[in-house]
Amino acid sequence: MLKTIESKVKDPLAAKIGIKKIEWAKRHMPLLFTIAKEFEKSKPFEGLTISICLHLEKKTAVLIKTLAAGGAKVYAASCNPDTTDDDVAAALAKEKNVKVFAWSKQTKEEYYWCLEQIAKAQPNIIIDDGNDLTFLVHQKYSHLIKNKILFGGCEETTTGVKRLYSMQQEGALKIPMIAVNNAYSKYLLDNQFGTAQSTVDAIINGLNILVAGKTVVVLGYGWCGRGIASRFKALGANVVVVEVEGYASNSSEPGEIRALTALYDGYRVLNHSQAAKVGDIFICATGNINVLRKEHFLEMKDGAILANAGHFDVEIDKKALVKLAKEISEPLAGVKQYTLKNNKKLYLLSEGRLVNLAKPLGQGHPIEIMDGSFALQALSSKYLAENRATLKPGVLDVPKEIDRAVARLILKSNKIELDSLTQEQLKYLNEWKIGT
Ligand code: NAI
Repeated sequence: MLKTIESKVKDPLAAKIGIKKIEWAKRHMPLLFTIAKEFEKSKPFEGLTISICLHLEKKTAVLIKTLAAGGAKVYAASCNPDTTDDDVAAALAKEKNVKVFAWSKQTKEEYYWCLEQIAKAQPNIIIDDGNDLTFLVHQKYSHLIKNKILFGGCEETTTGVKRLYSMQQEGALKIPMIAVNNAYSKYLLDNQFGTAQSTVDAIINGLNILVAGKTVVVLGYGWCGRGIASRFKALGANVVVVEVEGYASNSSEPGEIRALTALYDGYRVLNHSQAAKVGDIFICATGNINVLRKEHFLEMKDGAILANAGHFDVEIDKKALVKLAKEISEPLAGVKQYTLKNNKKLYLLSEGRLVNLAKPLGQGHPIEIMDGSFALQALSSKYLAENRATLKPGVLDVPKEIDRAVARLILKSNKIELDSLTQEQLKYLNEWKIGT
């Protein structure tokens, strides 16, 4: 028998503000609104518990309410120690059938304590962002898998999916996990346009600096990187792209092809050391470790700004920055100034955590973008619930019909109607005998 676990948030009295924020998000999330209406009737999650490990802010709150409308008991924690919006967490904790374990500025211990609470809730489905919860249930709560209580999950981001593939390769993945990140209507939109706008947003709003004329170095020309590069270019920045050779991520082309794509998209492509010397603003979006490190910091110009949009706070080597610094201060909230021994100053944003999400600079993706991504999460969770008896352990694609249904819903919400192919065109596209 599961003991009742009570929510733990920073300030329950902040709920009033959180409720308003959630209402604002809801107004701009027509897909989740439609899905919630359908879930209220069909109750696909009746009797099920869903544990969610996502950045806990207003758009996530709308997803959580949508799943609860479908009959689920939802337990939620954040997938990052500093991306929780405390007002929203407080508001969510007041919802029926929802328990929340999240607050901003968590220590590592607090962060993992919160994950433990949502694992202890004995979830039937998990929704993860970055693989921390998936790893935890496999390591410490594997009885949930053995006893067939936990029957599957969904993963939101590139880094998480990469880790799932590694688990699968080593035979360590014991449940079906849907790679929501890899749906076209996710990575082509959310990773590219969502990360782009919110990263630009965080840097401009947080620092109040002019972008035009500055040299912005984007490290990693994946879906996130190419979006970030295009938006900074549109603002008048000179964009430099840095890629690597000899690497191909699970959802993408090899680094060499990406470097060439960047070149033909009109950017300067440099290696790390060349870029370090010319950049004013550096943004990592690689999913990799120590992309910017000591040798690069030493080459950078005085006043260089360092930000990360990749999932974990490992892309910029913070330890090396601390070692190089003779003084560390915080001239603005979310901005750390490292004064090096030669008096050169480097500025690290949001402690090297995802700049577009981590407090106080990040607000997360635009609401409409998350409406699409979370529609995928909601429909993929329903798919898991409906097909639990037949799905095998491993990394699964989002079913094509869900991906296209979400794309259609987004078009509809923008009042765009596409023509269908004519019968003649359909026939022609399957033709192989007719030439000119
Ligand atoms: P991706 O796999 O499409 O692109 C990553 C690129 O980085 C690849 O082209 C790879 O060749 C390159 N790369 C790897 N190591 C490098 C290095 N040392 N130097 C330069 N380039 C390097 O991945 P995607 O979808 O663009 O995601 C990137 C990261 O952003 C992941 O950690 C992902 O989880 C995260 N993400 C963050 C979001 C946010 O809101 N901040 C939203 C979506 C994803």
